[in-house]
Amino acid sequence: MAGALTEEFNPAPLVAPTRLTPRASFLKGRHFLSVNDLSTEEIEQLFDLTREIKLGKAQNVASGKCAALLFEKPSLRTKLSFSVGMSRLGGQALYFAKEEVGLGHRESVKDAARVLSRMVDVIIIRTFDHRNIVELAHYASVPVINALTDLEHPCQALADFYTILEYRSETRGQKLVYIGDGCNTAISLMLLAPRLGTHFTLACPPGYEPPAPLIAQARELAAWHSTTFEISHDPVAASNDADILYTDVWTSMGQEDEKAKRLADFAGFQIGAKTLREAKEDALILHCLPAHYGEEITEDAVDSPQSGIFDQAENRLHVQQALLAAVL
Ligand code: CP
Ligand code: NVA
Repeated sequence: MAGALTEEFNPAPLVAPTRLTPRASFLKGRHFLSVNDLSTEEIEQLFDLTREIKLGKAQNVASGKCAALLFEKPSLRTKLSFSVGMSRLGGQALYFAKEEVGLGHRESVKDAARVLSRMVDVIIIRTFDHRNIVELAHYASVPVINALTDLEHPCQALADFYTILEYRSETRGQKLVYIGDGCNTAISLMLLAPRLGTHFTLACPPGYEPPAPLIAQARELAAWHSTTFEISHDPVAASNDADILYTDVWTSMGQEDEKAKRLADFAGFQIGAKTLREAKEDALILHCLPAHYGEEITEDAVDSPQSGIFDQAENRLHVQQALLAAVL
């Protein structure tokens, strides 16, 4: 009798999940033009989904679906990661270079949005003027994802903070020092950092700060989330006690005419021996790539054991695959 009872009474072990597995499509139909388009909770859910995808859990959610990649600027990582991500989800990606679509020239942004929406399931676009992407999203009935504009690089920032999370297990309380131009990459990072509890310092030459309204927004977010936001013109002093040193090219795509002036103005705004000496001993080195050795970063810094740069590049794939799974 006692034996029979033991056999019948065989409860499953009580294992409480720390967080429910996020479902694919939890952002179904949503655009992602700016880091501001996702709530902090949605970003955390996206990181959970990324973790699962990186562990190889199948998400065949794009079967029979198609992404259009409209790229008006060159790309290695973004084009590759969205294409591979879409294919790993069981779908496919079609790439269009600038001259093929002629957005705003051969065809209005409005008409391109309406035609694309009839044939594809998601539009991924890299363009110059951020207003193009806003207009495209306005007229598109499928999700539009910002693959970089002159104003923001939000997919990059997602992958960057996911990488920080992997290295540090926590984004809260980290001091991120960004050395370089107040460009698209810096803007997406400075707007996202406070919401993930990260202190943010931008070290740039005078005159290379992001637009004033965005600085005001970053300050307000930092105050709200009790993080710090600073702008410095001294890269070495700014690097003091940094947990993370981050940089990007001094001359972004589309600014080639300013290259000579920028080379002079940015001298010293580099991740290298001087700034690394000031940062914490185990400071994580990040760069969105492509890198220009000897300008914004030394080759030694890229190759250093402290560098997380190639994990960061790889994470573009996992985070964007999760983003695709979420919006499709
Ligand atoms: N970091 C980044 O967006 O790289 P690509 O310009 O090569 O896509
Ligand atoms: N700020 C750079 C990022 C490249 C990924 C650019 O816009 O060219």
